[in-house]
Amino acid sequence: MNLNDCHNFDDFRKLAKKKLPSPIFHYIDGGSDDEITLQRNTESFNQCDLIPNVLAGGGKPDLSTEIFGRKISMPIFLSPTAMQRLYDPEGDRASARAAAKLGTMYGMSTMATSSIEEIANISSGPKLFQLYIHKDKSITDDLIERCKRANFDGLCLTVDTIVAGNRERDHRTGFTTPPKLTIKSLFEFAAKPSWVFNYLTNKKFELSNVKHKTDKGTNITKSVIEYVNEQYDPKMNWKDAEYCIKKWNGPFALKGIMSVEDAKKALDIGCTAILISNHGGRQLDGSRSPFDQLKEISDAVGDKLEIILDGGVRRGTHVLKAIAAGAKACSFGRMFLFSLAAGGQAGVERALQNMHNEIQRNMLLMGCKNIKELNRSKIIYRK
Ligand code: FNR
Ligand code: LAC
Repeated sequence: MNLNDCHNFDDFRKLAKKKLPSPIFHYIDGGSDDEITLQRNTESFNQCDLIPNVLAGGGKPDLSTEIFGRKISMPIFLSPTAMQRLYDPEGDRASARAAAKLGTMYGMSTMATSSIEEIANISSGPKLFQLYIHKDKSITDDLIERCKRANFDGLCLTVDTIVAGNRERDHRTGFTTPPKLTIKSLFEFAAKPSWVFNYLTNKKFELSNVKHKTDKGTNITKSVIEYVNEQYDPKMNWKDAEYCIKKWNGPFALKGIMSVEDAKKALDIGCTAILISNHGGRQLDGSRSPFDQLKEISDAVGDKLEIILDGGVRRGTHVLKAIAAGAKACSFGRMFLFSLAAGGQAGVERALQNMHNEIQRNMLLMGCKNIKELNRSKIIYRK
């Protein structure tokens, strides 16, 4: 199996599984507790059907939209995700280049293994930075100032991860960051010698954005779960979010909004966007799926805030449904992380191109010439 055999999420996932040591594969693939929310995120799209209009005259549909003040070529972009150096030696550099090539946005995590400056140097494409608030507040100021200097387009503050979700797969596999050979994981790593070779012969693992502020940035002694629980501020509140908005003074989103009440508060404190998200089912298991909550939130604030949805997006039709229900764009995590592990930059390009093709083809089949024509009249929810 190689990249040319990858046509959809399951194909990329299968190839990634072949290439990655199992603790790393399961870190990406897994969710929290019983993974009910993880499963529901994708299933919920099937609770809603598209209604096409025919004989619309065809012609190439316009897939572009605008988020965080930047035009993107299609209504899907890369969710900010941690530690991409573990999935491919080029890590974030590969993702950022692929996103720029396809004309869409790249999202950078606070826990990225490339730095804000490094990515700004290699990509003039649309860029979103994702902020985590550490207990050491000087890290927040440092990150925001550097994003300004590096001309990032937007900032989002993740609000659903004040403690780490219970990722039982990580406990079982003994996932540590950077990977350490333990008795438990020795066989797993030994089974993927080319990954081990690439890991050892490329740039050292580091959390490039914070390593000068915390020694855990180059040596997380335990797991990502322990890093989150030790470093992030569990007392984070609306005042902290407001502080970031004022300091950034540009397009700003809260990532992890799931209720109408919080969406309204986000608007009140000056957000320009929200990311409806449950962190890909990695945090509060048993919480609703973003798509299930989208309609209600969009009815409340959709005309005043840019709504972005992530969680469970695997197909072009999922994006079409989300837009018809009120989102301006979607983003995805696992889909592109598996494609990154499967084939580096070329893998991410292929996943994005597939998505572009699917959205374009399905818009034609829907009789829609641009994404504004995707509205509530185009979907019906099953009872
Ligand atoms: C994430 N996600 C995430 N979110 C965030 O705000 N900061 C981060 O550092 C990370 N890291 C991260 C790592 C991995 C391996 C995954 C799978 C996810 C969550 C991510 O941004 C997004 O919300 C979800 O991935 C969306 O769900 P899907 O598309 O993976 O189903
Ligand atoms: C995760 C954190 C790092 O989902 O956001 O693993």
